[in-house]
Amino acid sequence: MLFKLVTTLSLLLWICKADDVLKNNGQFPRNFMFGAASSAYQIEGAWNEDGKGLSTWDHFVRRTPSPVVDNTTGDVACDSYRRWKEDVKLVADLGVQSYRFSISWPRILPSGYDKHVNEKGLEFYKQLVQEIIKHGMVPVATIFHWDLPQFLFDNGLDWTNEELINVFVRYARFVIKNLPEVGYWITINEPRVHCRRSYGDGLHAPGVSDDGIGDYKCTYNILKAHAAVYRMYKREFPRYKAKMGMVVDCQWYEPASNRPEDVEAAERHYQFECGMYLHPIFQGDWPPLVKYRVAERSRREGYTKSRLPSFTAEEVKFMRGTQDFLGVNHYSTTSVSNVQEASYNETRFAHDIRVSINRKLNWEVSFLGWGVVPTGVRRLLNLFKERYNDPDVMFTEIGVADDGTTLRDDIRIRYFRSYFCNILEAMQVDKVSVVGIIPWSAMDSFEWHRGYEARFGFYAIDFENDPQLLRRPKMSVNYYKSIVESKRLHCNTAVSVWNDKEIL
Ligand code: GAL
Repeated sequence: MLFKLVTTLSLLLWICKADDVLKNNGQFPRNFMFGAASSAYQIEGAWNEDGKGLSTWDHFVRRTPSPVVDNTTGDVACDSYRRWKEDVKLVADLGVQSYRFSISWPRILPSGYDKHVNEKGLEFYKQLVQEIIKHGMVPVATIFHWDLPQFLFDNGLDWTNEELINVFVRYARFVIKNLPEVGYWITINEPRVHCRRSYGDGLHAPGVSDDGIGDYKCTYNILKAHAAVYRMYKREFPRYKAKMGMVVDCQWYEPASNRPEDVEAAERHYQFECGMYLHPIFQGDWPPLVKYRVAERSRREGYTKSRLPSFTAEEVKFMRGTQDFLGVNHYSTTSVSNVQEASYNETRFAHDIRVSINRKLNWEVSFLGWGVVPTGVRRLLNLFKERYNDPDVMFTEIGVADDGTTLRDDIRIRYFRSYFCNILEAMQVDKVSVVGIIPWSAMDSFEWHRGYEARFGFYAIDFENDPQLLRRPKMSVNYYKSIVESKRLHCNTAVSVWNDKEIL
């Protein structure tokens, strides 16, 4: 009790001290949407229950040796398939306006095809959506957060195969039709991470390593799949109010120095990681720099055509403008320097992007070694505004990892405070349009190939020692609650200053 009191008092003191210099009026718009995020494979568990089909992740985690650092799986994870009511309540307790979750494709359609429906799986998501609404929140649903039905993969239908697009559109149509109360649809979560990890370096399920080839095929197909779902949605569901978009992961890429080659390297990094996904949906084609570099290296490496498949003029037109908002997952900033052109006898994505990434010594880093650089988010927002004609941006993930040893997650409080201040300043001073912030994540969960090592949650779960998987609020819960309730944040120039020396 005494410990709790001291903790709360010191937190209050710390916040007041930091708040003594106000830079702006600190007010988010009244209709601003806060939330918390999760994804099916990372929290649900019940991997083979109630008629669920297997996903590529269910298979992948069973490989020997385990591809997951701590040899764990998502078989049980947070057991959210059973505790969904409790979890929705925990999210609602944060006072937020939205809950982002994802739909497990094989839980609804065990084979991936819509000819065989698992009614129990469908019922699960119907009830989940109702429960979210009951608590006054907007359901934000991701259609594909990386758990491809294994049956499709076994039959040659993965994201490197164009034929998957139609199967995906049918699945998307099915869930959209059956979940009419979803408020925001996210077609695909982080196509870059998915394509690179799943078909490039093989660190994620289904573990295909085809560096510099498979990842580009995946990118090409997944972008077309996104556009096809968007067009289908607008055509077939004209009365639905939900907005739809794809979610990209974009960090801030800061040149390591003012030398032109480092500045160019940072731009290359941006274009290969972020522009490659945003340019097609905003402008309709690959960024010219990416197109040129991959074509050029492919030629010199001896390929008869570019390893990056090209879009036809029709496809360019089809893809352009397929988003109602720009969904972005942002975590960190990297310091980017130039490297020499690699020899042409090896095909690798790293040779195409040709950068070296680092972090500055004065940056705070999280448990995962990611830099905590709040000004990066403001720079990124300004870049979006400039390059994509002032889109409505929604942060569909933003957050920082801890190591799970304490509930006193000061780093998360510092992180949110400083990042949110920069977002607010970008909105108020630079006039960028941000419509919501949905931090990652509601609770600690299975972090893909990193297992349970990194904890991003507002609520802690002791996966190793607690069979009850009790959800315990970390200190950041109260902090986040206070921001969400008041929609107000007092910003100190020291953390939110724009043109200071924090980055360089
Ligand atoms: C994102 C991903 C999430 C979560 C997060 C933190 O790339 O969409 O599922 O794992 O990273 O690592």
